[in-house]
Amino acid sequence: MGSRSRGGSGSGLLLPFLLLHLLSLLRCSSAAGGNEPYVGVTIGTAVTNLLSPSDLASFLRAQRITRVRLYDADPRLLNAVASAGARAIVGVPNDELLALGSSPATAAAWVSRRVLPFAGVNASTPAVISAVAVGDEVPTALPSALPVLLPAIRSLAAALAAANLSSIPVSTPLPFSVVEDPFPPSQAFFNQSLARSLVAPLLAHLANTSAPLMLNLYPYYALMQSGGVIPVDNALFRPLPPSLEMVDPNTLLHYTNVFDAMLDAVRVAVRNLNATPGAPPPPILVTETGWPSFGDRRAEPYATKDNADTYNSNLIKHVLEDRPGTPMAPGAQAQSSAYIYELFNEDLRPGPVSEANWGLFYGNGTPVYLLHVSGAGGFLGNDTTDRSFCVAADDADEKAVQAAMDWACGPGRADCTAIQPGQGCYFPDDVRSHASYAFDAYYQSQGRAAGSCYFQGAGMVTTTDPSHDKCLFPGSKLLGNVTGSGGANTSTTPTSDAVGSAIWRLRTGRENGFFLFLQLLLSIAVVIVMDSNFWT
Ligand SMILES: *[C@@H]1O[C@H](CO)[C@@H](O)[C@H](O)[C@H]1NC(C)=O
Ligand SMILES: *[C@@H]1O[C@H](CO)[C@@H](O)[C@H](O)[C@H]1NC(C)=O
Ligand SMILES: *[C@@H]1O[C@H](CO)[C@@H](O)[C@H](O)[C@H]1NC(C)=O
Ligand SMILES: *[C@@H]1O[C@H](CO)[C@@H](O)[C@H](O)[C@H]1NC(C)=O
Ligand SMILES: *[C@@H]1O[C@H](CO)[C@@H](O)[C@H](O)[C@H]1NC(C)=O
Ligand SMILES: *[C@@H]1O[C@H](CO)[C@@H](O)[C@H](O)[C@H]1NC(C)=O
Ligand SMILES: *[C@@H]1O[C@H](CO)[C@@H](O)[C@H](O)[C@H]1NC(C)=O
Repeated sequence: MGSRSRGGSGSGLLLPFLLLHLLSLLRCSSAAGGNEPYVGVTIGTAVTNLLSPSDLASFLRAQRITRVRLYDADPRLLNAVASAGARAIVGVPNDELLALGSSPATAAAWVSRRVLPFAGVNASTPAVISAVAVGDEVPTALPSALPVLLPAIRSLAAALAAANLSSIPVSTPLPFSVVEDPFPPSQAFFNQSLARSLVAPLLAHLANTSAPLMLNLYPYYALMQSGGVIPVDNALFRPLPPSLEMVDPNTLLHYTNVFDAMLDAVRVAVRNLNATPGAPPPPILVTETGWPSFGDRRAEPYATKDNADTYNSNLIKHVLEDRPGTPMAPGAQAQSSAYIYELFNEDLRPGPVSEANWGLFYGNGTPVYLLHVSGAGGFLGNDTTDRSFCVAADDADEKAVQAAMDWACGPGRADCTAIQPGQGCYFPDDVRSHASYAFDAYYQSQGRAAGSCYFQGAGMVTTTDPSHDKCLFPGSKLLGNVTGSGGANTSTTPTSDAVGSAIWRLRTGRENGFFLFLQLLLSIAVVIVMDSNFWT
């Protein structure tokens, strides 16, 4: 605790992508461990009112979190992780490195005390520990411990091997700042004073033991330090027009986001170091990434809830759904897994304002902000305040959205009064906004039942309240009554009942007799079939 420090890629000089000499680049074809990519969360404990271990266990289970990274090997936390059925990277804190690195016997004792009870060595112990992270960002956080870092890693790996546990990899999370000139990625290389003393022997150890290269990787800091070179959208995984995308002049690869550019910079640095000729490069495991939701207004302008929601939601989608790999190592097989920094706001951490505001939740499990995480198998999607909403999916086709809205307000019998002209949610007057309201009205009317926000792919569940201005969405806590109708202060207009909504007029130029007729037919069909799940 307390020795963690993030970012600090002060040495990572950011150059605009310039046309420079051509490098011939081999394509990394190695798979990232062969397993499915996953997203985990880091759990720091500098928190005033942290959930008790048993509450933590049910919280992890409710949020479908199956991978966590701890910064030590606290048995109470490991027991909570075990009873949630999840797995954990355990850590050796930087201030224990000296003892472990200077005495193999101490390292062996650490393994038998900390790891064995959670390594599944016999039927009465759970298999919780997925990896050991030795130290954290040692080159920047505690450079004086660098001489003992490799010895500590080797001693711990040897002790694990002696206990027949060589399947548990041992590595050390490096700060991204060990990579120099990361942009464009094709020119990256490791800090020369660390390359031979630390990185090369580390890579040899990793290759020898099939362990991943662990990196803490923060597009947020890259953005902060770029002096305007990096567009914020690029850091947040938001699509940019092709003309604004970053193009690596040496490879002509397009980078749609900074995260992938950072991963490729690491790949190039590994290849240029050539520490393990002939061996495939190690898979990269992102042991920390994230975005602060609050910071100093002047010094940390990008630390907002909106940006944090966007970054972390898009990261989850990137790793769990899209799985593009990176431009240099494309494909789901090469997709790196990542741990979001961090699960809880660590209010006790000193430093800049943002330092205490990286969490997805407060220590008691209340969300700091609500993620957009549809389609991630329920991962982090359980709104502990029991609020979720259904809106038009970002990437859904407009025609599909319109058709689904017509269904929701018609046969679906959602109360669409509030999006009629003159009502609270009429503005903004566009298909997506209206459909979002209609989808949500249907979703809430079905008690947020599983599948009631599908709409043939046009809907997505969000835990962010889409209410705005005077438009309160069904289910909003602002409404004070989750079953009430939205459209704030439509007061004199009584909300229409199910029959009323069945004759809801089709909007946006489709109010012709044919569609009304079709809709009527559909309503009849639905009444007959009841509970038809065609759309949802
Ligand atoms: C390389 O790493 C060393 C040790 O951490 C550090 O002192 C030095 O400033 C780094 N060099 C550059 C160019 O950042
Ligand atoms: C959300 O969490 C609550 C409380 O732990 C649990 O009862 C509920 O089943 C969870 N919902 C989903 C959809 O996982
Ligand atoms: C199982 O392994 C643990 C950890 O090594 C040990 O403490 C315990 O005695 C073992 N139990 C059995 C039944 O062998
Ligand atoms: C090591 O583990 C393997 C299976 O993982 C088992 O077959 C073997 O007996 C174990 N050896 C020792 C010495 O525990
Ligand atoms: C690789 O592992 C073997 C045994 O597992 C060990 O003898 C050797 O020293 C290791 N090499 C490196 C470079 O770590
Ligand atoms: C919410 O509305 C329902 C009926 O629509 C009513 O039965 C319930 O008492 C209301 N709850 C609150 C807190 O107003
Ligand atoms: C609704 O209208 C009443 C009276 O005009 C007002 O006091 C109240 O704040 C309004 N509520 C909302 C949510 O706008």
